[in-house]
Amino acid sequence: MTVDPLPADASAIAAAAAELAAGRLVAFPTETVYGLGADAGSREAVAGIYRLKGRPVDHPLIVHVTGARQARRWAQWPDLAQRLADAFWPGPLTLILKRLPEAPAWACGGQDTIGLRAPSHPVARALLLAFERLGGLGVAAPSANRFGRVSPTRASHVIDDLGGDAPLVLDGGACEVGVESTIVDLSRGMPVLLRPGGIAGGQIEEVLGEPLRMPDSAAPRASGTLAAHYAPDTSVELLAAPALIERVAALAARGLRVAAWSRERPGRGEAHWEQMGSDSDRLARQLYDTLRRLDRAGFDRLLIERPPESGDAAGDWAAVVDRLRRAAAGAAADERECRGASGT
Ligand code: TXA
Ligand code: MG
Repeated sequence: MTVDPLPADASAIAAAAAELAAGRLVAFPTETVYGLGADAGSREAVAGIYRLKGRPVDHPLIVHVTGARQARRWAQWPDLAQRLADAFWPGPLTLILKRLPEAPAWACGGQDTIGLRAPSHPVARALLLAFERLGGLGVAAPSANRFGRVSPTRASHVIDDLGGDAPLVLDGGACEVGVESTIVDLSRGMPVLLRPGGIAGGQIEEVLGEPLRMPDSAAPRASGTLAAHYAPDTSVELLAAPALIERVAALAARGLRVAAWSRERPGRGEAHWEQMGSDSDRLARQLYDTLRRLDRAGFDRLLIERPPESGDAAGDWAAVVDRLRRAAAGAAADERECRGASGT
């Protein structure tokens, strides 16, 4: 099947909304990452997402809506949800809420809850509004990568991943935020942070006026929260700065081709060095593109400097640190040949 990376103008949006209404998939940009969308109201259309991604059917999808008005048709809507939606929608925040009987159970992976998010990207918004005019109630969309892989932040990443199976792809350029949405579970009495993401936990706590809890064993399983997820094929090691330099030298001495991605660039010859910089937003924006580029370049090992995990700046880095840890865990699992346990 030919791949069609349309520029997302009005006629492209109309064509994409018609695809959704006809039960077909559309890949589209959001401010976080590209999504692989289907009409959430159609069981068959949503089944197509699971097939194409290779995602287990018990992993719930995020349903994308135009705003609180649409969200309330499918979820119980407590006061805290309204406050968070007022503060952060449209934007990179997903709310997990108790679902109403009329909600699309097939998008919710067997949970009695539903994940809802109103994205802010102009192309995503235009698509959701056009689909709403055709009678659509929401668009179920995971990140548009194969299960377990690094999320796509450019249209070309979607095509690299899905190849000839790619549906219509709306090309809206590179994603602004670059890491997935923050997920807050409001379905169990107290707000729980299920996934750090585009909005820092501290900002959410300011609006809530109470601390976000961390997930316990009763928390729903989220595929983006598996230890080994967001993993490139190349083995990744996450190291503090001094250890990183020693490790580069040791691996190079064994004749391995090493890429090192660090905050400052020491510029030593025994590895290919990339500079990460010290701006967490900028790093988030480049994260997946850099991982994909270095992964394709044929290195034996990818060494990444561990960003700050404590102190004042830690909150800003939480999403990036989380994704880097999972990339490294995926590579470690690979080395133990047990990647299958966490999916690819
Ligand atoms: O930024 C994002 O959130 C992107 C863009 C496309 O919106 N989407 C995204 O979707 O990252 P996905 O499917 O790759 O990750 C969604 C996460 C998964 O970890 C899933 O388990 C969790 O959200 N999730 C969805 N519904 C849930 C529910 N009812 N309960 C618990 N977790 C849920
Ligand atoms: Mg994903």
